[in-house]
Amino acid sequence: MTVDYIPPQKSYSNGKLSIDKLDLPEAHIIHGREFPVAYALNLNDHEYNRDEVEEFLTSLSQKGVITQLIENHGVFVLRDSVENSDESKAAEVASIIRHIEEGRNQVQFEQNGTLTTRDKKGFNLYTANKSPPESVILQHNEFSRFKRYPNSLVFSILEYTATGGETPLVHGGELYEKVAKELPQFLEKLSQTGLQFNNEIWYKDESERAYWNHEVTFGRNIKPEDDFETKKKKALKIAHEYISDNAWFDEDDNLLASSKTWPVKTFKDEPLLFSSIAAFSDKYTTDEPKIKYGDGTVFSKEDLNKYKKITEELEYKHNWKSGDIVFIHNYQVSHGKLPYKDGKRSTLVGMWDVQDHTKQPFKNFQVEKSDLESVNSNLEALKV
Ligand SMILES: [Fe+2]
Repeated sequence: MTVDYIPPQKSYSNGKLSIDKLDLPEAHIIHGREFPVAYALNLNDHEYNRDEVEEFLTSLSQKGVITQLIENHGVFVLRDSVENSDESKAAEVASIIRHIEEGRNQVQFEQNGTLTTRDKKGFNLYTANKSPPESVILQHNEFSRFKRYPNSLVFSILEYTATGGETPLVHGGELYEKVAKELPQFLEKLSQTGLQFNNEIWYKDESERAYWNHEVTFGRNIKPEDDFETKKKKALKIAHEYISDNAWFDEDDNLLASSKTWPVKTFKDEPLLFSSIAAFSDKYTTDEPKIKYGDGTVFSKEDLNKYKKITEELEYKHNWKSGDIVFIHNYQVSHGKLPYKDGKRSTLVGMWDVQDHTKQPFKNFQVEKSDLESVNSNLEALKV
């Protein structure tokens, strides 16, 4: 399906500064649009002046240019907007991101229910997952298994000297089409029954990787002087508001949550997949599956492996340049992490949201036989 859209310009300028379009070698075309779209700041022989750069980027945001680029392409890469980026530039990057996001009327998304702890590095900017360099994280849309998820996810690496560690990104519309073609029954059932996440756990013990009394898990409103029962009450309130109605404490005072979500959706009438299935498929055992179809039945191992394989085949792998800021439309695009070695690669993440998500053109979608047929005929047509 191809919808009308405003094509990206080669350059956007205020007469002094500009952002000029870059060709990313691994970008590809989805529904007639480049995925991702990338621009580099061009000073056009002027001196770098932070206020002027922020003012220029704010004006592009206020005109709707940045939202268009993010929504039409799924991912917008901004290069060279920080001068001589290195690990000391977190506050500058945070400020650029803030100007862009607030310029397009987005608000800070409060992170609750993360499965890792994070350190604050600037305004609404945190260290990303603290997993070791060799670890792989498979595709997921951030917080898609919860009640509340961010509209945009912004990644930056201030200093990148590592080998490997590209950021893999998958467009949910392309994923939907490939899954419709190769796993039609899986897709149909997923759209009809939804997706269950069972018994996610945040520990009482603060030496665990995820514990509930941390700002970005469930401790946002907890004060050190609160008694233990008050702490639990405050944590559970956030869990019910942000994560799931089905959240509770077990007898050891660990916080658990189960949820049901609808991963087959449309954004502006284009069907897509929005889920954390690939990332959680590794935590699947036949004894105690973390994820199931919404009716409680288990996925077949073959389907799940095939699904994982499809996501890997569709990955665009972002090759970082120090100081890149990558704006991801979390509704449409999922992300993961690849292993790296030898050198620096600390990722920062900021999450932002629309002011009123109920007005977003993002809806649950029930797949019918005719939809599967039309995907196949569209894909056939593209081959001709
Ligand atoms: Fe993530």
